[in-house]
Amino acid sequence: MNITFCCTDTKADPWLKGLRAAFPHATVNVWQPGAPQADVAVVWAPPQQFLDEQQALKALFNIGAGVDALLKLRLPPGVKVVRLDDAGMSVQMAEYVCHAVIRHFREFDGYEADVKEGKWSYRKPRERQAFPVGVMGLGVLGERVARALRVFDFPVHGWSRTPKAIEGVFTHSGEAGFEGFLSASRVLVNLLPLTPDTQDILNRHTLGRLQPGGYLINVARGAHLVEADLLALLERGHLAGATLDVFRTEPLPPEHPFWAHPQIRITPHTSARTLRDESIAQIAGKIRALEAGQPIAGVVDAIRGY
Ligand code: NAP
Ligand code: GLV
Repeated sequence: MNITFCCTDTKADPWLKGLRAAFPHATVNVWQPGAPQADVAVVWAPPQQFLDEQQALKALFNIGAGVDALLKLRLPPGVKVVRLDDAGMSVQMAEYVCHAVIRHFREFDGYEADVKEGKWSYRKPRERQAFPVGVMGLGVLGERVARALRVFDFPVHGWSRTPKAIEGVFTHSGEAGFEGFLSASRVLVNLLPLTPDTQDILNRHTLGRLQPGGYLINVARGAHLVEADLLALLERGHLAGATLDVFRTEPLPPEHPFWAHPQIRITPHTSARTLRDESIAQIAGKIRALEAGQPIAGVVDAIRGY
C-alpha cells in the first residue's frame, strides 16, 4: 500500500512516524509533485495540483472535522472523503464552550476588571433559567457540547437538519424549526458545518431573533458569521457580547475591529485541535476496515457538504 501525506502548515515527521508504525509494510511519504500514485492520502488543505496528479486515490483522510475547504477542490473520481470523527475533539469543544458560557453567565470578565482596579465588588447572582443556550448543529461536536451544558443545569436547545432526541435537550430541526429555536435561545453556539446552506447563517436577522442580551459563541467557521451584522447588533445593545474562535480571514488581520472590541473575546482557531496520536489511530483503523471491505464512519456526503 502507498500512503501519501499532504498537509499544509503541519509538521510531517511525527505523522509519518506514526503512520509507518501502524503500517510497517506500506510506503508512507510526504507528497512531492510527480510522486507515484498513492492508494490513500492524509490531507489538510492540499493544493489542487496534488489532487489533479493523484487521480487513483481511493480515500482522502482529512485531519480535521470540517471538510469545507477540501470540498471546494476538484477531487479524483470516486474518491471517499473521510473526516475526523471526534478523535479527542469533542471533549475540547465541550470545555471551550462551557468555559465561554460560564464566563459570560457568571460575569467573570467584570470581576477580573474590578480586581484589576482593586475593587472588592459583588454582582447580583443571575437567574440560570434566563440564560437558555441554543446549540446549532447536533453532530459529533454539537451533541457533546449540548450534553456538557446540561451538566451545569442551563436550559439547552439544539437545532439540526434532521430530527434528534437528546435527553434533557429541547430539540428543533429543519427550516421549520429554526425560528422557534432562535427565539428560545439567549446564548447561541454555532457548531454547524460550512456548506452553501449555512454560509452567512449568523446575520442580523437570525442573531436579531435571539432573546434580548443575546450572546454568540462561534466555534465552527468564520464564513458562518456576517461580521458587520454582529458589530451592528452589539452597537444597538441587542447582543451583550461574543466569543469567537474562527474568522472569515485567518489569521485575523491586525487592523480588524474584533481584536480590541470590549464585548468580543477572541481565540486563534483553537477550540478543538487535531490530536495527532488519536487521529493516526483512527485513520489507521479506517484504512484497515476499508482494506477488509468493511464500512467506516465519517464518510462525507459531497452533495450535502458534510
Ligand atoms: P457533524 O458531525 O457533521 O455535525 C453537523 C451537524 O450540523 C449535524 O447535526 C447536522 O444535522 C447539522 N447541520 C448541517 N447542515 C445543517 C443545516 N442546513 N441546517 C441545520 N442543521 C444542519 O460535524 P461536527 O464534527 O460536529 O463539526 C461541526 C463543525 O465544527 C465542523 O464542520 C467544523 O467546521 C467545526 N470545527 C471547528 C473546530 C475549531 O477548532 N474551531 C474544530 C473542529 C470542528 P444532521 O445531524 O441532521 O445531519
Ligand atoms: C478544525 O477547524 C476542524 O475542522 O477540525
